[in-house]
Formats: sequence, C-alpha cells, structure tokens
Amino acid sequence: MNIILLGPPGAGKGTQARRLVEERGMVQLSTGDMLRDARTSGTEMGKKVAAVMDAGELVTDEIVIGLIEEKIREGNPAGYIFDGFPRTLAQADALAELLSRNGAQLEAVIEMQVDDKALVERITGRFTCGNCGEVYHDQTKPTKKEGVCDVCGSTDLRRRADDNEESLRTRLMEYYKKTSPLIGYYYAKGDLKRVDGMAAPDEVADQIAKAMM
Ligand code: AP5
Repeated sequence: MNIILLGPPGAGKGTQARRLVEERGMVQLSTGDMLRDARTSGTEMGKKVAAVMDAGELVTDEIVIGLIEEKIREGNPAGYIFDGFPRTLAQADALAELLSRNGAQLEAVIEMQVDDKALVERITGRFTCGNCGEVYHDQTKPTKKEGVCDVCGSTDLRRRADDNEESLRTRLMEYYKKTSPLIGYYYAKGDLKRVDGMAAPDEVADQIAKAMM
C-alpha cells in the first residue's frame, strides 16, 4: 500500500510515518530527511540546497523528484509512506508517473489538519535523536532522562536549523501557496482522506489506520 501524508510543517507527518514503519513494515520516504542527509554528506547537491532549506523555501522539483525516483526504482513490497512529498503539482504528476511506470499506485492521500498556532508551538519545541531519529518535544514529549534518547540511549539530540519562527513563517507560506493546492487535486481524484492532526498521537494513528482501510 502506498500513501501520502500531507500536511503543513509540524503536522505530525514524521511522527506518524515512524509508527507505520514500525507497525506495518512500510518504508518511509521523507524528502526532508533525504535532503538533510545530502547536506551532512557534503555532496554538491547538499551544498546547493542548504541555504534554501534553512530559509524555509522549497528545493527545486527536479532535485526532489530525482531523489524519489531513485528510491522507487529499488522497489518495496510493503509499500511507501511519502512524507513531505509531493509538495507541488509538478511533483504530484511526477509521482503518479513514477508509480505507474513501476506497476504501482497510490492507495490514499491523508491530509493532517492542524491549527497554525499549534504548528508554531510544535516546531519551536521539537528536537530529534541524531542516531535513531526519534522525535521529541520540550513540553509534550521530553526525554525521560534529560539529554538522553529514550529509544537508543544516544546523547546526540539535535534541533533543526529551520525550526525557528522566522523560517517557519516562510515554510507555512510555501505550504499554503504551493502545497495546499494538492488537497483539491487529490480530492478531485477521489484519493483524499482527512484526519484531525490536533488529536493526541495515538488517536491520530487510529484515524490514519481507518483511512487506510
Ligand atoms: P521536511 O523535513 O519535510 O519538513 P516539514 O514538512 O516542514 O515537516 P516537519 O518535519 O517539520 O514536520 P512533521 O509534520 O514531520 O512533524 P513531526 O512529526 O516532526 O522539509 C524540510 C525542508 O526540506 C523544506 O522546508 C524544504 O526546504 C525541503 N523539502 C523537503 N521536501 C521537499 C519537497 N518535496 N520539495 C521541495 N522541498 C522540499 O512533529 C513536530 C513536533 O510536534 C514534534 O515535536 C512532535 O513530537 C510533535 N507532535 C507530533 N504529533 C503531535 C500530536 N498529535 N500532538 C502534539 N504534538 C505532536
């Protein structure tokens, strides 16, 4: 089963994608994570996208479509969770073509709805484990022992360079201008399901499970 988690920055896409990976063995394809990996590995592409990401703008369609194409070509029977992709209509068209070329299709597009005020609180309080990727929050999900990841015990806890109010304003603008038109696009195709992203993570997970039935 192939699904898209669609929603603004901080909607909880990554949090829910990690649960689906654990519970269903699906593969998470996060273009944000792929781009951050490219940055840290110091590739030419990584250098090119770093400033764009820090400012909260979108990286070019050509780059992100290339990243996804490479992954889809590897194939995966349990299905993909597209997290943060597609973000433009051109990316959505490219995804449809890539899937059909590989004999696959999209089963659901799940829109996670969250108020802007909550997004600011979530993003400015977020930190993640640099070793296993577990996602935390200063207030709502702190580590049990300060400075130590609950899951893997690593002390490499990080905050993203774009997780500040200024970049978030641009990220939200980009979302409403370029990504939210995808809601109408997938609604018209009959693929769109909505979940209340303001609910607690377990409740959101239940709603996603129902949307995938
Ligand atoms: P990306 O990494 O995709 O970031 P994003 O879309 O801004 O989404 P986030 O990762 O910030 O949020 P999330 O929805 O995953 O929330 P999370 O689960 O972490 O993209 C980063 C940048 O890369 C872009 O700005 C762009 O430059 C570039 N890029 C990436 N893809 C691209 C593409 N396709 N095209 C062009 N450019 C691209 O949760 C957030 C916080 O909230 C956490 O602390 C969590 O604990 C908490 N939380 C989660 N769920 C709940 C809940 N239900 N209740 C309360 N708190 C919750």
